[in-house]
Amino acid sequence: MKSFRTYLIFGITLLTFTSCSKETESIPQTGTAYALAIPPGFPEPIIPEDNTLNSNRVELGRKLFYDPILSLDSSISCASCHLQNDGFADNKNFSDGVLGKVTERNSPTLTNIAYHNAFFWDGGNHSLEIQVIGPIENENEMNLSVQVAIERLKQDPEYPELFRKAYQLNEPTIFGLTRAIAAFERTLISGNSNYDKYFYQGQSNSLNANEIAGMNLFFGNNLRCAECHSGFNFTNLNYENNGIYAMYADSGRAAVTLNPNDNGKFKIPTLRNIALTAPYMHDGSFATLENVIDHYAQGGQNHANQNSKISGFSITTQEKSDLIAFLHTLTDYEFINNPNFSVPTP
Ligand code: HEC
Ligand code: HEC
Repeated sequence: MKSFRTYLIFGITLLTFTSCSKETESIPQTGTAYALAIPPGFPEPIIPEDNTLNSNRVELGRKLFYDPILSLDSSISCASCHLQNDGFADNKNFSDGVLGKVTERNSPTLTNIAYHNAFFWDGGNHSLEIQVIGPIENENEMNLSVQVAIERLKQDPEYPELFRKAYQLNEPTIFGLTRAIAAFERTLISGNSNYDKYFYQGQSNSLNANEIAGMNLFFGNNLRCAECHSGFNFTNLNYENNGIYAMYADSGRAAVTLNPNDNGKFKIPTLRNIALTAPYMHDGSFATLENVIDHYAQGGQNHANQNSKISGFSITTQEKSDLIAFLHTLTDYEFINNPNFSVPTP
């Protein structure tokens, strides 16, 4: 048996044959292949074999992502804390879950989440599929047992048919729920900001002189931002302590590794769409990009695990405003206005 996996890349349809493992054989592909548009300069994301993309899967995932049915009192959906207009983050320090609870960390952006190898600020989860269960069951977020969520979906007039079409399942299951939402999340690719137009698409007039000056500061040896926020997605995906505290209330990466050398280390966040995702850091402790730059310029609070690249620098008012202007060029308006990523019309 062979299955088809079709991607549309820059208008060229590539058909690749992949031989099926036992598991994928039981879920043959239906629906039209999803056209995942990989922007210039971006690699192909890794897609698990048991969850290749197709339109039925992505559409089911999108419906679930926007559906409050997955929360205890049917009041909040994934999109309540991951809003398209806010770059799939939100603008709160901590986000509102059900029953007046709030999250313990700042909601991160889901921009280009397909390229991450681990999830959460501490990287404590390695599968975008499994991650889906986290917010549904977390008492500060949706607070619903995933079994109850599945029962609700089984009773729904529409979902059973959608699960059948997407994953050939007789009824909604946890397997289908987690895979469909992950499939939708993998489509949230952002690579058409003014920076991309300038850097990857050869449109030299997409950045003005101030933005270019800011870009040179960002990539330069004095500020060293790009030594951590590196590559096409502005993160090397490592865990670092950037010195925002001398003592951290949240142990960060150490909660996963139990290694004290990881205390206060967090996954280096992407800076794509950063102008839309204030406040900043794992706890939303910096209200503005100016506050963030002032922190780095000051050189941090000298935590034992503070990375040596955080050593302070001097920066003029003009340079600071140039750097902020550059960070604003990472906003991708096509991404936040893309109707394929918005709440589906019934
Ligand atoms: C009440 C707010 C809230 C809701 C609802 C919510 N999230 Fe989140 N999300 C967060 C917070 C806060 C984090 C960071 C948690 C951490 O690092 O411990 C997060 C992290 C994530 C991450 C990891 C991002 C990264 O960079 O590692 C993904 C993926 C994600 N959420 C997807 C979802 C999905 C899918 C749903 C719905 C099933 C959902 N979220 C519902 C607040 C929320
Ligand atoms: C040693 C690696 C490192 C360097 C160098 C670095 N950062 Fe960071 N950056 C991080 C880490 C880690 C975080 C998250 C820390 C946390 O949440 O506690 C972060 C967070 C941020 C955030 C907030 C992102 C969000 O989604 O909340 C911004 C903005 C940022 N950095 C910009 C910069 C700029 C501008 C520079 C250069 C002046 C820079 N960074 C240099 C590691 C680094």
